[in-house]
Amino acid sequence: MKDKTKMFKIVILSSGKSRGSNFQAIAEYISNNNLNIQISFLVITNPNAPIIKRAERLGIKYYLLNKKNLQKEHLSFEEKLEILLEQHKVNLIVLAGFMRKLSSDFVYKHKKRIINIHPALLPKYGGKGMYGMRVHKAVFDAKDDYSGVSVHYVNAEYDTGKIIKQEKVCIKGLNSPEEIAEKVLKIEHRLYPEVIAELAENIIHYQDGSW
Ligand code: GAR
Repeated sequence: MKDKTKMFKIVILSSGKSRGSNFQAIAEYISNNNLNIQISFLVITNPNAPIIKRAERLGIKYYLLNKKNLQKEHLSFEEKLEILLEQHKVNLIVLAGFMRKLSSDFVYKHKKRIINIHPALLPKYGGKGMYGMRVHKAVFDAKDDYSGVSVHYVNAEYDTGKIIKQEKVCIKGLNSPEEIAEKVLKIEHRLYPEVIAELAENIIHYQDGSW
């Protein structure tokens, strides 16, 4: 039995009709490698998001932070999130299919504790409106030979935080944005959990686990 007080705790933030494939890849990597990392909870913003089914299958608690629920509590999205982070003593905030911008106050408070994955080689194909298939379409239209995956810290601007790790992939000869997406997603599913595991190792070493 793992000592839960020594777990490195992460939260996954998703938004809209998130598919949740990275969320699942992270959960499975943690469990397959028996890591001392716990997904404390998942945040969703839409009750119809497919990611919910994955959370239920994996037995991971999720919170629906949509307008209706937040209004009931008279809280903003970030106010509610702060309460949950504090309650769960979370160490790292992991954005996976989270397409919103976090405020500069929130990002500053959690500096170097928020990471994101982007399906291209930043700084290319990043910024407002560049997410999901839009990224792969832009890469395809530019006839690039390479695309890739970037995992980066989150700051108050879209996709401009310090890059933690990138992996390049050859897309020469692929015939559609969908084919690029498929090849890139496979890398995402391996790279994101690896980065989280590395951060957990380093951060656990230097701090006492409190948020
Ligand atoms: C992933 O491809 C991720 O890189 C991308 O959204 C997809 C989410 O898929 N994120 C962005 O484009 C961020 N700008 P998932 O819900 O199956 O993990």
